Amino acid sequence: MKIFTEKTQIQNTIKQIKAKDLTIGFVPTMGALHEGHLSLVDEAFKNSDVIVVSIFVNPTQFDNKEDLKKYPRTLEVDAKLLSSLSNDIIIYAPTVDDIYDGKTVAEHFSFDGLEFEMEGKFRAGHFDGVGTIVKRLFEIVKPNNAYFGKKDFQQFMIIKKLVEKHQLPVKIIGCEIHRETNGLAMSSRNMRLKKDYKQAAPFIYKTLKSAKKKFGTKSAKKVIEWVENEFSNHKLLTLEYFIIADQETLKPTIRKSKKKSYRAFIAVYADEIRLIDNIALN
Ligand code: PAF
Repeated sequence: MKIFTEKTQIQNTIKQIKAKDLTIGFVPTMGALHEGHLSLVDEAFKNSDVIVVSIFVNPTQFDNKEDLKKYPRTLEVDAKLLSSLSNDIIIYAPTVDDIYDGKTVAEHFSFDGLEFEMEGKFRAGHFDGVGTIVKRLFEIVKPNNAYFGKKDFQQFMIIKKLVEKHQLPVKIIGCEIHRETNGLAMSSRNMRLKKDYKQAAPFIYKTLKSAKKKFGTKSAKKVIEWVENEFSNHKLLTLEYFIIADQETLKPTIRKSKKKSYRAFIAVYADEIRLIDNIALN
């Protein structure tokens, strides 16, 4: 297992891989790896020769300093987990300076409005931070394919837009949400949930599934009211937003159209831990 912490090192290796005409599959992560990440790596193995996983907690995408400080950093365990899949995986775990060269600020991007919805409303500057790091990582790793989980569906759409607008030569592959057996979407943040909150959290997906059922017969407005009411009665979970949106534009739905695909998006606080999830509705 090769672990690089400096871009010059990994860039040399990437040159050698490209010289052999091998394809690179890239899984960008912030570490604290779980089965969801491993499923992305599995997917990458299906259609790429060499797999690179980056592990980097990117400061510019956090709007909350405390959240950044507390984000789990478990490089040794992560490397062990990845080596259980294959010893040939290349890990790129840079320092902040290696990526930002002493200037830890995000570039500004336009993602044609996708960035102003949902997470963009509640986490100021988040997608500028994501765009900055993903673009830099793509420039360093030069992947043919890159894999993103659909738990962060808005991020997945924004990365596709980034690639389209900047004409980056990489194929973006979206992978289905990986869930615990109780339905909770896998997330590195789950390991920070205290016991009561961990037990309560599957309520999020349960509610999404009921919302999907109701969306078959009821208006978006009625479904939203129902979900908001469910959470207003909940003792441990606090709803930040529940939105039904057009899957392509991510704009909130006012009137349903049979021709469009919709998705429900949710953000919930379990104590101080913020959890997000989503479900395709039709
Ligand atoms: O989804 C994540 O873990 C991060 O947002 C990403 C894509 C690795 C960028 O830091």
